Amino acid sequence: MIKKATMPTLRLNNGFDMPILGPGVWRINKGGMRDLIINVIKIGYRHFDCAGTFSTPLLLFLLWNSDHGHVIEACKNSLEKLQLEYLDLYLVHFPIASTHIGRVGTTGNTYDGDGVLDIDTTISLETTWHDMESLVFWFPWVGLVRRIGISNYDVFLTRDCLAFSKVKLAVNLIETHPYFQRDSLVRFSQKHGIYVTAHTPLGGAIANAKRFGSISCLDDPVLKDLTEKYKKSVVQIVLRWGIQRNTIVIPKTSSVERLKENFNVFDFKITEEDMEIIKGVDRKHRTNHPTKAWGLDPYA
Ligand SMILES: NC(=O)c1ccc[n+]([C@@H]2O[C@H](COP(=O)([O-])OP(=O)(O)OC[C@H]3O[C@@H](n4cnc5c(N)ncnc54)[C@H](OP(=O)(O)O)[C@@H]3O)[C@@H](O)[C@H]2O)c1
Repeated sequence: MIKKATMPTLRLNNGFDMPILGPGVWRINKGGMRDLIINVIKIGYRHFDCAGTFSTPLLLFLLWNSDHGHVIEACKNSLEKLQLEYLDLYLVHFPIASTHIGRVGTTGNTYDGDGVLDIDTTISLETTWHDMESLVFWFPWVGLVRRIGISNYDVFLTRDCLAFSKVKLAVNLIETHPYFQRDSLVRFSQKHGIYVTAHTPLGGAIANAKRFGSISCLDDPVLKDLTEKYKKSVVQIVLRWGIQRNTIVIPKTSSVERLKENFNVFDFKITEEDMEIIKGVDRKHRTNHPTKAWGLDPYA
């Protein structure tokens, strides 16, 4: 049994509340998804980040790159699959449009002869954003989508989106964890009323070490030292740190025990001094690289 804890929320710029912790669903085994969702709801999680790439036909909340020119169709397709009337939040998955593959709602890519992602240079991010806005504008009462946002945008692109947006962006979903703190982007977004959701909040741990050769912050000696003081695991320290910098954290695990452990972060507080110490472990180390799949580095 875990302790009953009230899930804190952050109030979005349009007045909706967003739970500060949610389970990640990327790389969760399709077969285990149903039981896992039942378990996460029982434990108390109420926020689900899901996307087309994540092998979860159950849920789709992000617009894939190849659907930039087909926003409305893609959103309706997601709603149909989910058997829902509206989405709470719909995000542009990456600030890049790739060639449409002929149908919406898949996460397929097309490649050129050199194995490099076919990038569509005819659709601007502004066009995509205005199409996202139309999901809100066209259905103002029931709404196909309640809030819209972005994912994997840096400071330059976030600023640009702010400049042309009529419907304010609610969320920027970005990779951030103690080894990739991105304080400038987090602060810039928050200063402009955009909530930051931390994807890969554990730095991808073993999963990204295996897949991308990254270094896991869960092995960091400074973070390990803090476990003694707080009587918490490194994972709990890392998640609590994320929460205390006002980011929403969405750690992924398929293990029910770990889901409980990851949820058990509301009964302690990291001191200001220790928050500063954690600041010092930053390595500016991105652990999730689309480069491998796309044949080019989009962050170059
Ligand atoms: N928008 C985007 O572009 C984007 C990109 C990447 C991720 N995301 C979202 O962010 C979510 C999280 O990212 P992620 O899955 O890449 O990385 P993550 O949550 O930082 O790390 C996942 C890894 O941590 C391990 N882990 C989880 N809880 C643990 C615990 N208590 N003790 C030890 N290890 C633990 C998991 O192992 P086990 O599973 O074996 O427990 C897995 O290896 C995704 O599921 C997805 O929803 C979004």
